[in-house]
Amino acid sequence: LRPKDLKGMRVLMTAGPTVEAIDPVRYISNHSSGKMGYAIARAAEYRGAEVCLVTGPVNLPIPHGVESVHVQAAREMLHAMENRMDEADIIIKVAAVADFYVNNASDHKIKKTHGLPVIELEKNPDILATLGQRKKQQFLVGFAAETRDLSAYAKDKIARKNLDMIVGNLVTGPESAFGSDQNTVTFFYPDGSENALKAMPKEKVADHLLDAIVSRMHARRNG
Ligand code: PMT
Repeated sequence: LRPKDLKGMRVLMTAGPTVEAIDPVRYISNHSSGKMGYAIARAAEYRGAEVCLVTGPVNLPIPHGVESVHVQAAREMLHAMENRMDEADIIIKVAAVADFYVNNASDHKIKKTHGLPVIELEKNPDILATLGQRKKQQFLVGFAAETRDLSAYAKDKIARKNLDMIVGNLVTGPESAFGSDQNTVTFFYPDGSENALKAMPKEKVADHLLDAIVSRMHARRNG
């Protein structure tokens, strides 16, 4: 049994994909199932934290005792996080945020009899970078989903987005984190240190991640 070592802590999280409408029946999204984020939310609640989960659309039940906020587009996720970040002690951004939204989304179903539609993409706000700029005492954790050069990209994101930690994982090939029950992750820290874990169920990854956060926060408090 895990200790209630997160008692009194408020954890604000995101999970799942974002969904960017093309028209009322079509959208742009990605393969995130929500399993990784929901496992972390469940583990944090179990360890005594007050957990708020901002979630894109997934087919998973909200874990017992976890407050949920349901969003679709990245811009909605940004507002939900900005409104809640000041009260959080720990922020963990597991969601796979779409990098682009459709600037000319149609109010009505686009008809195929009207020729090929032109879909104009616009860059979504970078939620994690925004939180990184605005954070005060919060311990901010990002995820990095890459198809190659995991270490280089993850380290670049830590610095650029002002994070306290980033969790790197691959989203291609047989070990892809998307949708599976297992994950193979590496933790990266701003001081350049890193810790590569072996493949394990996402529930176990969640506990290792919370252990690492608790120990880093403890070290920070004790100078
Ligand atoms: O949901 P599962 O099927 O269990 O899969 C888990 C997962 C692969 C989705 C998860 O482990 C993971 O890697 N999540 C991050 C996915 C992602 O968007 O990575 P990224 O490298 O594109 O983004 C880096 C970080 O910036 C992420 O914390 C992301 O939430 C954040 N971001 C990205 C773009 C954006 N516009 N705003 C953001 O906040």
